[in-house]
Amino acid sequence: MDTHLSREITCCPVDPTKSVTSLTEDVVAGLFASNKRLPPKYFYDDHGSELFDQICDEPEYYPTRTEDALLESSARDIVGRVKPDRIIEFGSGMSRKIRHLLSACSELEYYPTYVPFDVCDEVMIKSGRELVEKFAWLNVAPLSGDYTAGLGNLPIKGECNLVIFLGGTIGNFSEEQGVMFLSEILEVMGPTDRLLLGADRVKDPNVLHAAYNDVAGVTAAFNLNLLEVLNRDLGANFDRENFEHYAFYNPTKNQIEMYIMCLHEQEVRFDKLRRSLRFREGNVICTEISRKFTREQLEDMLRQAGFKICAHYESHLPSFSLVLAAPP
Ligand code: AVJ
Repeated sequence: MDTHLSREITCCPVDPTKSVTSLTEDVVAGLFASNKRLPPKYFYDDHGSELFDQICDEPEYYPTRTEDALLESSARDIVGRVKPDRIIEFGSGMSRKIRHLLSACSELEYYPTYVPFDVCDEVMIKSGRELVEKFAWLNVAPLSGDYTAGLGNLPIKGECNLVIFLGGTIGNFSEEQGVMFLSEILEVMGPTDRLLLGADRVKDPNVLHAAYNDVAGVTAAFNLNLLEVLNRDLGANFDRENFEHYAFYNPTKNQIEMYIMCLHEQEVRFDKLRRSLRFREGNVICTEISRKFTREQLEDMLRQAGFKICAHYESHLPSFSLVLAAPP
């Protein structure tokens, strides 16, 4: 007999179906260009992940707790509609977002396997063990890899998969990338599978501004930690004192734009690239775009990707959306 005590959690690697760019490639293409930018995925080294976790608890950063409350109030409806055999979560992180869905599964007596999909095996195993302590029936079967590149090899099987993509991370994609990513998910979904998408909404720009400029400075530390990542992984010598966190809401594009701005000129050497780069006062690196959606834009994006909308759960003040979507 297999008891939950003897059941080991092991991660299954998912091979990428398209090429994943390396930090070196992204730096050469993004930093040595005149319009400087880096993909936000490099924020999440060990320290950056800790800082992100702290951001989620900052009073100004409403998305995490707003989405959590929305999950709490809608979980039973979602689980009752989908009756999932498996719940697959893209970008599961520390699996903080799954609890209300699993509680609803317990209550309604559905016992799906939980499949977190993220880059860090240790974090998925540790978080998985904590979940199994709370939900003794739970089987955790993590997938490891880059979920944006591994969709073609996703072992999505069984009758009823609930795919979840939460936290508003869809906002990090451009309009075209977002529709593309969602249509790639749709392509691997079966007719009874469902997608649950969490996305942040357009709202009072002052509320948005404050969320990315918390008084405690955690978001600033999170953003500037990217310089430490470059120093460590590329042998660079960024002096953090020369740079500043700069984030604002751009209402013409409905998006937060986050930058690292150079305040004091510095010649930065990248030992591993054998190149150097002069940053002048006022030069910026775009480190993150976080798009905010109207209810209509969000549903349009899903429909453009080919989905049908099943249910739309929303909160007000601050507004946030969870959309349950299905293959056509
Ligand atoms: C994890 C992408 C949803 O855009 O709000 C938080 C990341 N950046 N504070 C977001 C983030 C700065 C977050 N996402």
